[in-house]
Parts: sequence; C-alpha cells; structure tokens
Amino acid sequence: MVKIAPSILAADFSHLGEDVLAAVRGGAKYMHIDVMDGAFVPNMSIGPCVIQSLRPVTDAVFDVHLMIDRPERYVEDFAKAGADIITVHIEATQDLDACIDKIKALGVKAGVSIKPATPVEAIAPYLDKLDMVLVMSVEPGFGGQKYMPSAEEKLRKLKALAPEGMDISVDGGINLENITRVVENGANTVVAGSAIFGQPDIEATTRKFVETANQ
Ligand code: DX5
Ligand code: ZN
Repeated sequence: MVKIAPSILAADFSHLGEDVLAAVRGGAKYMHIDVMDGAFVPNMSIGPCVIQSLRPVTDAVFDVHLMIDRPERYVEDFAKAGADIITVHIEATQDLDACIDKIKALGVKAGVSIKPATPVEAIAPYLDKLDMVLVMSVEPGFGGQKYMPSAEEKLRKLKALAPEGMDISVDGGINLENITRVVENGANTVVAGSAIFGQPDIEATTRKFVETANQ
C-alpha cells in the first residue's frame, strides 16, 4: 500500500487540527511536517511546539522533515514533541552517522533526505540503518513548486538498493497527474502539500490521492 503524507506546510494554520483530521479521514496514514530554519533553506516554518499541539489530535505517523542546519542539535526536541520519523538532510550535517544514531537512540525512526543535486550514491552507505529515504523533487524551502522528473531515476536506483522495509518517499510538486509516475518508479510514500491542503475539500482530495496511488 502506497502511503500518502500530506504536508501541512500548505495548510491554513488558523484551523490546522481540523484540516489534519480531514486528511486522516481521507486515508492519510502519515502527516508530513516541514521544519525550516531560514539558514539551510531560505524560508522559515514551524518548530516543536506545533508538533506538540498536534500530537493529541491524531495517531497518524508524524513524518518530520528537518530542513535545518546541524539537525543533531534539535532531534531530541522533535522526538519529545511527538515525531515518529525524523528526517534530516545529508547536506546539513557533518556527521550523518552520529545524527542517525542519535535519532534512533531516542526511539524514533530515522530518515535521510537528498536535495535534487545530491546523488543516491551519497546515501548508499547509510541505507542499512535507515527507515526512510526522502527524495526531493523540488529544491527544499517552499511549497507549490514545479515537480522535477529527475527524481525518478533516483527512485529507481533506491528501489534497487533499499533494504526490505525501508520507505522510499518523494517530496515536492506531486499532484494527481504525476503521482502514478513516482509510484511506478519506486516511491511507496508520497508527500503532497498544495495539491492536498491547498484544495477546498481536503478529505475528498486525500481519498483521491490514496486511490490513484494504489490503483
Ligand atoms: C518543500 C517541502 C515540501 C513541501 C511540498 O521544501 O519539503 O514538503 O511542503 O509542497 P508541494 O507538494 O506543494 O510541493
Ligand atoms: Zn517536506
């Protein structure tokens, strides 16, 4: 079953809890939470306190995507706030191995993300200890950008290399037109922000994503 991970970055934060619940009713098993620091990426978003507030709202898997420099400084805060998976960028840390170990020692699943210019080969040595790899199909930092098809070759390579049970996720510019392509190329988890939370009927749109991804 391909999982849909709606990205709350595109939600209206004045009624975030209700919108998250609508996506969960529509079949979202994961909730993708984008954290930006204005340094690793040229934008800012939310921190642990928002995750803490959302935690009692749903049992959905909180898939926290840290787009921050030196993420090892903050993984503990995000684990305490209720993250189920913490994904860091390989480009953001000097010691990825230690960062992954730190996440796992907190009892949280560990993911690593690669920007469009970073090859799959860069994360190959870490795959055995990862629960998820997140392939960026846009430059991280903003929602609503155009999907980059160059992600597809990376998804295929990862599918060939990935150990059993590791999630292959893709993030950026995914909509109902291109979701089938990413799934066919190996993604089993699909992030979508504006194409879900930017729509008037979040529940029905999420359901459509789940159906399209799994047909
Ligand atoms: C981009 C974020 C994405 C973003 C996706 O830096 O990591 O998760 O919210 O938004 P869309 O689906 O609108 O490209
Ligand atoms: Zn993201």
